[in-house]
Amino acid sequence: MSRAARFVLPLVVVLGLMAWIASLVANSVTRRWFEKDVQVRAHGAFAVSRQAVIHHWRSGRRQAVGRIFEGMAHDRLFLAVAACSRDGTPVARSPRTPAQLTCRKLATMAGVPRPADEAAWRAWTRAVAVHEGNVDLTILPLRDRGQTLGMVAFVHDMSFAAEREAATESFYLAAFAILALAAAGFTVLVGTLSERRWITQVRGLLRGDPVDGAAGFGPIVRDFRELVARVQAEAESAGGAGAWTPERLRQLVGRHLSGEKIIIVANREPYIHERGAGGEIEVLHPASGLVTALEPIMRACSGVWVGHGSGSADRETADSQGRVAVPPGEESYAIRRVWLGPDEERGYYEGFANEGLWPLCHIAHTRPIFRGEDWMHYQRVNRKFAAAACAEATSDEPIVFVQDYHFALVPRLVRAREPRATVLAFWHIPWPNSEHFGICPLRYEIMEGLLGSSILGFQTQLHCNNFLDAVDRYMEARIDRERQAVVYQGRVTLVRPYPISVEWPIRWVQAVPSVDECRREVLGELGLPPDAILGLGVDRLDYTKGIEERLRAVERLLERFPALRGRFTFVQIAAPSRTPIERYRELRRQVEALAASINARFGSGSWHPVVLRCEHHEPPRVFRHYRAADLCYVSSLHDGMNLVAKEFVAARDDERGVLILSHFTGAARELTEALVVNPYDLEQASAALAAAIAMPADEQAERMRSMRAFLADFNVYRWAGRILVDAARLRQRYRFSSSALERASVR
Ligand code: F6P
Repeated sequence: MSRAARFVLPLVVVLGLMAWIASLVANSVTRRWFEKDVQVRAHGAFAVSRQAVIHHWRSGRRQAVGRIFEGMAHDRLFLAVAACSRDGTPVARSPRTPAQLTCRKLATMAGVPRPADEAAWRAWTRAVAVHEGNVDLTILPLRDRGQTLGMVAFVHDMSFAAEREAATESFYLAAFAILALAAAGFTVLVGTLSERRWITQVRGLLRGDPVDGAAGFGPIVRDFRELVARVQAEAESAGGAGAWTPERLRQLVGRHLSGEKIIIVANREPYIHERGAGGEIEVLHPASGLVTALEPIMRACSGVWVGHGSGSADRETADSQGRVAVPPGEESYAIRRVWLGPDEERGYYEGFANEGLWPLCHIAHTRPIFRGEDWMHYQRVNRKFAAAACAEATSDEPIVFVQDYHFALVPRLVRAREPRATVLAFWHIPWPNSEHFGICPLRYEIMEGLLGSSILGFQTQLHCNNFLDAVDRYMEARIDRERQAVVYQGRVTLVRPYPISVEWPIRWVQAVPSVDECRREVLGELGLPPDAILGLGVDRLDYTKGIEERLRAVERLLERFPALRGRFTFVQIAAPSRTPIERYRELRRQVEALAASINARFGSGSWHPVVLRCEHHEPPRVFRHYRAADLCYVSSLHDGMNLVAKEFVAARDDERGVLILSHFTGAARELTEALVVNPYDLEQASAALAAAIAMPADEQAERMRSMRAFLADFNVYRWAGRILVDAARLRQRYRFSSSALERASVR
């Protein structure tokens, strides 16, 4: 046998053995994960439908219970769902429930074989997991008001786990085989090379020392380093390890974007200086989801926020350039205020942005209005903001982050002034389907403006798809579906979903007292007793928010459940918004009239079921209400994300309170443990209000905990991190391609 073979054979055998052991270990670990996953899934499904099951069970409607189970069993992971009462009689079974799974057998598995054994049934509170070959069972006690009605069993088909284990095994064996061969080959090669004293020469090549006039491996090593950096960036964008914090975001900007400052362009400024009635200057925080999300990013990264100077004392608090350092008292970034004349404000903001694009993009039954004059102002103001953003650039590769429908033209305008800029744009509101978007007479110009950006972000994949369809339908551009990009006039714009979020932990929670204190305070202000049940709505007074539907659901609740009259109060905080627009003034009249009619119908003595507060509330007051409420109802008719829902969850560190959430918000895709409703369906919405009021504390905690864990993970730092990492990758790609072009032209 040759020297090489004597070495290589044992190496291959040892690595093969290691591969086999590794695949065994990996399989047992992943099997445990899969088992845990299906149990969590069963708990989730159980928690969502528990109330409905109890309701039908108690009213003897077994078929209705059966229908719920049938719906659940459509999930690929559940083979079947069945329920038995305590005395061993089947209550309902989904179609594929195995016949041998009798109620008696289930009770024995759960450890409660005898119906008369009251103590055993009472003591059974936790789910029981049973593994039988390719089938797992999760058996849960069905408890209601301290009584155990029976049990619900989820049967999981684990054959998918077996398939995945087989795939993992083959993968390990193949990977180790390749590794073994590569290791053997490499070792033999190195041995041979070192024998011939080539090592020194190879080292020189790797360092890039020229050999016989050639460049050596230096460029390859550089490429390799860049590749590693890219892989790192990709891992970072996927979430990486650990929590996303301001510090991590700051480091990311330092590492991947050479500490470049970020220039945000957003209409609404984060701090508004207003002169109060007594002549003093107040600093206001606007009621804006966009500001809630982006302000913490600016605190973390620093930079400049180019926004409309809309406060009555804004000019006197800014310098001659319109600049002011913020946050007051902890200055870490600057606002650059852009001044608008009354005509510009009317045409650009009220007219084109809020009477045109806003209703165009929301399915909320208000017709968009497009006036030629408004469009002229919109273009002019976009040019003004683009110029202000470029004036803030301190390098020839600035990062300009354009926000929302107010500035659809800014990306292209910035690109024209700063061709090497990284222009990011984020559309906070929905993007309608292409047919609907076709209503807009300026559709081409709007899309062309946005395609000046390097990356265009939306809240959901659906909105990205709608945008791509609109480009496909109305523009001469190429859609690269694989990269999710548009190639227009030789330039590429990536189109990606980045669901926005809130900071975590949210700073306002630290600024307010304990939950008990908040509750005492808010109930005291409302003149309600300590055991009052408090519902809450928090919005800008906008027709997309479904405030009328929400109040009607409260009315229906009081009709259906007379016992709640005098006990349940719904507080609606509605910040006046866009008041010069007639549709908004009309909405206020309608909401006030509706609240008054509900109060006249059900109110008695000093109790009013609806408390409507049409005024601006500063964040600490809003957060006191979040913490005091038993439930929060977000009933938007259409909403890109809705950060009120996320703020409510972030405010509840006591893990209490129930979120009722409209199906038509971006947030409903993420906060799945909320009670998700169709706000137009008053029967469903009022039933959800009733379910929230009756929800036991442990179920509230379970749902809240899960939503809070989600937000801790997917916070706004992660949102910004993902966009900025994608931006860094593009910058790097651009540099490579431009340096390659330069090299080519030198030759
Ligand atoms: O995305 C919707 C939005 O324009 C956000 O900027 C913000 O959340 C809200 O509406 C505020 O509206 P406005 O700035 O018109 O008061």
